[in-house]
Amino acid sequence: MTTPSLSIQNYLAEQSALDTLRFITCGSVDDGKSTLIGRMLFEAQCLFDDQITALQAESKKHGTQGADIDFALLVDGLSAEREQGITIDVAYRFFATDRRKFIVADTPGHAQYTRNMATGASTASLAIILVDARHGMMEQTRRHSLICNLMGIKNIILAVNKMDLVGYDQSVFDQIVTDYQDFSAALNFAEVTPIAISALMGDNVTERSSKMRWYQGPTLISKLETVDPHPSSATSGFALPVQLVARPNADFRGFSGTVLRAPLTKGDEIRVAPSGAVSRVKSIWLAGAELEVAAPGLAVTVELDDEIDISRGDVIAAKSTPAETADQFEADLIWMSKTKGLIGRQYQLKIGGQTVTASLSNLKHQIDVNKGQELAATDMDLNEIACVTISTLKPIAYDSYQNCKDLGAFILIDPLTNETMAAGMIKFALRRATNIHQQRLDVDKAARRALNGHTSKVFWFTGLSGSGKSTIANAFAQSLHDQGIRTYVLDGDNIRHGLNKDLGFTDADRVENIRRIAEVAKLMVDAGIVVLTAFISPFRAERDMARSLFEDGEFVEVFVDTPLEVCEARDAKGLYKKARAGEIPNFTGIGSPYESPNDPELRLDDGDIDDHLSVLKSIL
Ligand code: ADX
Repeated sequence: MTTPSLSIQNYLAEQSALDTLRFITCGSVDDGKSTLIGRMLFEAQCLFDDQITALQAESKKHGTQGADIDFALLVDGLSAEREQGITIDVAYRFFATDRRKFIVADTPGHAQYTRNMATGASTASLAIILVDARHGMMEQTRRHSLICNLMGIKNIILAVNKMDLVGYDQSVFDQIVTDYQDFSAALNFAEVTPIAISALMGDNVTERSSKMRWYQGPTLISKLETVDPHPSSATSGFALPVQLVARPNADFRGFSGTVLRAPLTKGDEIRVAPSGAVSRVKSIWLAGAELEVAAPGLAVTVELDDEIDISRGDVIAAKSTPAETADQFEADLIWMSKTKGLIGRQYQLKIGGQTVTASLSNLKHQIDVNKGQELAATDMDLNEIACVTISTLKPIAYDSYQNCKDLGAFILIDPLTNETMAAGMIKFALRRATNIHQQRLDVDKAARRALNGHTSKVFWFTGLSGSGKSTIANAFAQSLHDQGIRTYVLDGDNIRHGLNKDLGFTDADRVENIRRIAEVAKLMVDAGIVVLTAFISPFRAERDMARSLFEDGEFVEVFVDTPLEVCEARDAKGLYKKARAGEIPNFTGIGSPYESPNDPELRLDDGDIDDHLSVLKSIL
């Protein structure tokens, strides 16, 4: 039932969703970005009188504009910025004109703040790229544009600022516009609107400039007031990723989430991903009121005609354009963490309401955002951008980021620390799973174990170089062999002469080393053999990944806990000496970390080997 007050709420909610434009300003300190934002806030009259009085006083003290108001002081709010004269963080600012509300993401423009800018750009539907008329296009103009392009922004305002300092000369403006159009032709922007402005003087910000009669385009604010804030996807019907299954009472079962891509209408036929179930929209609710149509951007609750099983993370979409599902993707990644991103490592991938285990399976190339070039790379550092292949353990519902930001954006989380490692944008699915099927074989692990007369499992020895892993594994293999048990020792030094001879000791190579060994060990356990691996395997994440390949009880982690001093004193291969002399820069325990197991099945100290063997045997 609809009450008057609810329809007002409904109206307000719709208005607030529809009439807000989110945009980002890209530029750096010298381009006059802070001055421009300050000017927009001032002209939109979003400042209180006391703020203006304070600003006038501050301008005299800290400003760069003599007796005039220095608008940059309004937004360069952090004291460190005032001292250094640079903008150092992301800030969201709100202002409104009669026609529209605005949220500006104000992010720093330097390369070391790429992740901040990407964060600001991810929710923006328009970007103002500021160029100083005196300098024209710079490296940072390319970087800002490439990041906006990557983050799916389609609408660009090229604001050529400081026109006052070039005598309001049309030829300067025209040249910059031509340069920018040549550069941006290769990007996916739908519209680039060049505007000649002086943020400082207020030319073409709100008021048309009397100094640039030759300029025929819109003013900055009028352009911002008229662009479409939620352009619907041209080719797809609506999609609604389910955030919550609402069951306030036994009679009502609704699915809550934000409408994406296109309007959702009562009576629409729907299909759910990944299950494929179909139904029809019975009703749409917003803040207790019923709607006939819900526009993109609205958070609603939907009731369906049929009782079908839908859970959080599923995507309800138009029946004719359902959300696709896949388990391997090509994606762009922006690395957000100081801890490097490594190929082969597993992360938690969060997309919409879905969370799955995923691994980076290939780093195709890194993108140099200053030049737009593709570079070869083996790992990812803070603020780096790369095109990668990513595989998920289970299929997920998705859309390409370019088609629908909300269904194509994901983050990668470190499962051990819970830190957000990267933001990603799905480009397309790689349809591996559909063409390669698992072959069923009649002679299986159980049959082979029965023939051997013993079980099969892996003893995963981990510890520093020289800790005694190989010695213990070797003695254990001998003793099992004597008992008639089939064994195989996979030893680091040996495997690195064959299967893994292409790998060195960078973090990325060590991850790949362990990934391959884990897979080989799994095959051998499947073959019915007791496998003993002796690798430093320094990282917890890869040991956990190895464990995850096996069934319960098949993976025995054995920590050979010999202290560094003891290993170093033994120095059987002379490597510690070399490492200390700086000849092996990333030697484990010296220039490269060893992460001790938190909870191994077995911890062996530097004791008697016969004692170790009897404990090991007791576990088989
Ligand atoms: S792991 O880190 O990738 O698991 P792995 O066990 O295969 O290493 O190989 C370790 C062996 O390689 C060491 O026992 C040592 O003999 C040799 N080695 C050569 N360079 C290094 C290095 N930088 N760090 C550790 N071990 C090294």
